[in-house]
Amino acid sequence: MKPVRKAIIPVAGYGTRVLPATKSIPKELLPLVDRPLIDYVVSEAFEAGIEHVVLVTGRGKGAIEDYFDYAFELEAGLEAKNKTAILESVRQPIAKAGAISFTRQQAPLGLGHAIWCARDIIGDEPFAVSLPDVVVTGRPSALAQMVGEYTRTGGNIIAVEEVAKEDTNKYGIVAPKAERNSALFEMSGMVEKPAPEKAPSNLAITGRYILQPEIFALLEKTPRGAGGEIQLTDAMDALMREQPFFAYEYEGESHDCGDKLGWLKANVSLALQNDEFSSALSDFLKQKVN
Ligand code: G1P
Repeated sequence: MKPVRKAIIPVAGYGTRVLPATKSIPKELLPLVDRPLIDYVVSEAFEAGIEHVVLVTGRGKGAIEDYFDYAFELEAGLEAKNKTAILESVRQPIAKAGAISFTRQQAPLGLGHAIWCARDIIGDEPFAVSLPDVVVTGRPSALAQMVGEYTRTGGNIIAVEEVAKEDTNKYGIVAPKAERNSALFEMSGMVEKPAPEKAPSNLAITGRYILQPEIFALLEKTPRGAGGEIQLTDAMDALMREQPFFAYEYEGESHDCGDKLGWLKANVSLALQNDEFSSALSDFLKQKVN
């Protein structure tokens, strides 16, 4: 069984749900406590043992590339003033040279198309996909838990979690094959953004995937689906007919930071877990709520 060495992180989306905040900056650079969103998902990938991250970018996303590079003037200024801790924090995102690649999705044709754009960099090996809007807390991370499962199961694994029945039209929804009695289970199908009355369950795909490279050939022939876009969920539904495919209810809490309220909640929640802010912030919140 080949190990999961590479991860695709699609960052070409417009971030329409968080406009106007993202009118002139990529949504992936919105701050979450003290780091941009993209930092969380890239760090999660490297910590899970991924060796090479492929960011699929698009127009107006150049600032994301700079975040993962040296900033010589800034660093020289910090060094001259002996601001060592800050200097360390600005260097922290810089991975080993060559460990991050960038490729471009030239047209907004959907998540499935964005993943397909990375096919040559991935080649013929299994890979992870992490969606940067979805920040998952918990240790080990959701992706690390999945990589652990994968070493036992092989095949394909997607993270799922329960959502409110009325929200199924915001997610990919899976249909479990049988009664679920463990965190890892097989499915009979999956469907992108079904209306609540058509949803096969309330188990939503959460934005972490481990997939086999055969998905690329399927993506190539996947017609436009929900929202007029080429959907990864549709290609995965086809791959499930050919290969072992598991859903995995990971341990942890997810935050949808591509949504205004989700982003606000994520900031409060993560800040309350952060030693620097937790006590002052919880005092402040108590005052405000009372
Ligand atoms: C994407 C996927 C969907 C998944 C969701 C998780 O949708 O297509 O299956 O449930 O991410 O956030 P998007 O939010 O990009 O529309």
